Amino acid sequence: MSDRIQSVNTMSNNVFDARTDALFSQLRDQKVWKELQTIEGPMDAKIRLKAYGEVLCFCSNNYLGLANHPEVVEAGVRGLKDFGAGTASVRFICGTFSPHHELEAEIARMMGTESSYTFVSAWTAAEALFPTCCEPGDCIISDELNHACIIDAIRLTTVIKKGVQKAVYANNRLEGDKSLRAALEGAKKNPEVTGQIWVVTDGVFSMEGSIADLPAMRKLCDEFGAMLIVDDSHGHGVMGKLGRGTHEHWGMAGELQMAKGQIANGKEGEEGKGPNGQRAKGPNEEKAQSSKQQSSNGSGIGRVDIFTGTLGKALGGGAGGFVAASERVTKLLIQRGRPTLFSNALPVTVACSAKKAIEIMLREPQRVQKLKDNTAYARKKIKEAGFDVLESPTAICPIIVGETAKAIAMSKRLLELGVFVIGFGYPVVPEGHARLRCQISAAHSTGDIDALVGALRRL
Ligand SMILES: Cc1ncc(COP(=O)(O)O)c(C=O)c1O
Repeated sequence: MSDRIQSVNTMSNNVFDARTDALFSQLRDQKVWKELQTIEGPMDAKIRLKAYGEVLCFCSNNYLGLANHPEVVEAGVRGLKDFGAGTASVRFICGTFSPHHELEAEIARMMGTESSYTFVSAWTAAEALFPTCCEPGDCIISDELNHACIIDAIRLTTVIKKGVQKAVYANNRLEGDKSLRAALEGAKKNPEVTGQIWVVTDGVFSMEGSIADLPAMRKLCDEFGAMLIVDDSHGHGVMGKLGRGTHEHWGMAGELQMAKGQIANGKEGEEGKGPNGQRAKGPNEEKAQSSKQQSSNGSGIGRVDIFTGTLGKALGGGAGGFVAASERVTKLLIQRGRPTLFSNALPVTVACSAKKAIEIMLREPQRVQKLKDNTAYARKKIKEAGFDVLESPTAICPIIVGETAKAIAMSKRLLELGVFVIGFGYPVVPEGHARLRCQISAAHSTGDIDALVGALRRL
């Protein structure tokens, strides 16, 4: 900071400056001040940090190692060359390019939904979804550990559509006190709830790595006539055999359909095998399958009504988010969703890279398997080193350490030892529950994981 700016700040007596400087002092005194690290190369298992040189990266969401995959990079470069640098418009004016449609068809195929619609981030997708789909008299019931974008989208909804009710249930608790059932019963009894009840959960909880019990939630939703929304931002690329998400893990994804124009057994249009070895379907069969999926719920293993997700993690990691759902939902978003009516489209180069990343994920299930193997190995080794790592089938391995300052100090020491792991504390998690969140990638080698555990042992 230059001397001149410093003196202006010091002399300032407006309320904002004073309270902000007080907050900064408090954060520094408590040793919870966040420093941004500068990366001087591509995201990968190993990255170059300006202040530390080459380090192992165990804190990115690059779960499948696709962020710097040559085909993903090349697809983006081609998109840039063919479509230029900018969309220069929102979608409904003149901002919809053919790669947007192609990406959205691929996302719908991955998710097993009728359609999808993209946004510049999953955060924006959530802020579009809830205020657009909810009306006064509706009630949104949310897991207490849902991501901040869901929490803020619900808050926004109750302001934009006054009369939308909300309720929160204890994390993953479906029965008993403070449970989802209790919240559903409360909504049914509430005279102000006259419309649709919505239940929303993360598929994978980002700070715990735990997963939502979607089949049981589906049953409860059916019992109360509620619609189920899942934000699966940490589930894509991670959960299920093909990485389609937490619904695939639970057997709720349906069969993966062939991509439009995909060459089956080397001959276009002929019935053949899909990327997972399954028989590809003819167009009428496909329609029957998809309409069955939209309406089946009798067994409790049926549909998730609406998904939100990100393209900024496993699926290329560039940026972008989506809603995957019925055409009714995506058409409503196009007509009424403020973040798409008043804000620019996803850059085309990012759309091209994300589509390629999804294609690679679906054609190479061995990547997803490698991630699972790496994660199981990391959990075992971290536990053997004497750390309290939360169990789950996901690639998020949180080590609970207690105080925020302790988590940040441990993270700093790990970085000095050549391993980049972030310490999370308040306000991201409740005070006293701070943690080191180790995130595993298919790009890591066993040696990388051994190096992580070696560094943890030296703390
Ligand atoms: C569960 C969940 N939802 C949404 C998001 C936001 O994703 P995006 O970066 O695309 O806005 C995140 C990112 O951390 C997340 O963990």
